[in-house]
Amino acid sequence: MAIKHFLQFNDLNREELEYVFERARWIKSQFKAYKPYWPLQDRTLVMIFEKASTRTRLSFEAGMQQLGGSAIYLNTRDSQLGRGEPVEDAAQVISRMSDLVMIRTFEQEIIERFAANSRVPVINGLTNEYHPCQILADIFTYIEHRGPIQGKTVAWIGDSNNVCNTWLQAAEVLDFNVHVSTPPGYEVEPERANLYGNDNFEVFADPMEAAKGAHLVTTDVWTSMGFEAENEERMIDFVDWQVDGDMMRVAAKDVLFMHCLPAHRGEEVAAEVIDGPHSVVWDEAENRLHVQKALMEYLLLGRIK
Ligand code: CP
Ligand code: NVA
Repeated sequence: MAIKHFLQFNDLNREELEYVFERARWIKSQFKAYKPYWPLQDRTLVMIFEKASTRTRLSFEAGMQQLGGSAIYLNTRDSQLGRGEPVEDAAQVISRMSDLVMIRTFEQEIIERFAANSRVPVINGLTNEYHPCQILADIFTYIEHRGPIQGKTVAWIGDSNNVCNTWLQAAEVLDFNVHVSTPPGYEVEPERANLYGNDNFEVFADPMEAAKGAHLVTTDVWTSMGFEAENEERMIDFVDWQVDGDMMRVAAKDVLFMHCLPAHRGEEVAAEVIDGPHSVVWDEAENRLHVQKALMEYLLLGRIK
C-alpha cells in the first residue's frame, strides 16, 4: 500500500475528509464514554518539534496513548537534528524505528524532504506555510456546532500566515468561501499557499467588509513563530485588524469565533470576543485531540469501515 502523508490540507480529498470527520465523531464519543479504543497497540509515533507547542504536542501524545500506542518527543535542542544531520538521513533512521512521524518545523520544504525519505506516514504539525491539523479541528468544530460548512463564509482577519493558507486550501476542497483581510504588505501569496485557480476566496481591504455576513470569524497572532524579528513593526501595521465586538456584530447572527491559540487579548482579538458568547475556542482546542486520533487511525489502518 502506498504511504499516505498529511503534509498539506489537500493531501486528503473531500471523501477522505468526510470519513476522517465521521471517525473523529465516533472516537470522540467513545472517549467521552470512557470506553477504551486501542487500534494502534504497539505502534509508535515520533514527534519532532523545531518550534514551541502546547496543544499540538499534548493532543498527539495523549491521542497516541489513548489509541493504545506510544509517542516519543524529539526536539532540535537535544537531538542530532539541530546539529546539521541531513533531513534525508534523519528520515531514513527515524522511519525505521517508528510507525508514524509528526513534524513541526520551519519551511514546508523540510517536511517534504523528510517525507520523500520516510518509510512511514508523515504528518505536518505546522510549518511556516501550513497548519493542516488545525484546520481539520476547526472544520470539525464548525460542523459540530452548525452542520456542513459547504457554501458558508469564513472571514479571516489578520496575517496571511500558515493557518490562513490552510483555510484557503480547505475552502477549495470542501467548497466554502473565505473572505480575507490583511494589512497592506501582508497579502496572501497564492504560490506560497499552493493555490491554483482557487476562486473560493475574496480579498477585502477593510476587515469590517470581510466580516460582513460571515458564518465564522477567525484570526491568529500578528507575529507567527519564526517571524519574531518583525514583531515591533507588525504591532503597528496590524492595529486596525483586531477582531472586536463591532466586527462580530456585522457578521451573521449565529456567527462563531475561532482562534487556533495561543491568543493575545487586546492584539488580534478583543477579550469580549474570545471570552464572549460566539467563541468556541475551547471546543476547537479539544477537537485537535479527536480529529488527530482519527487522522492517525486513517493513515495507519486505512478505511476500517
Ligand atoms: N494551535 C496550536 O497549534 O497550538 P500549539 O502551538 O500550542 O501547538
Ligand atoms: N501562526 C501561528 C500558529 C501557532 C499555532 C504560528 O505559526 O506561530
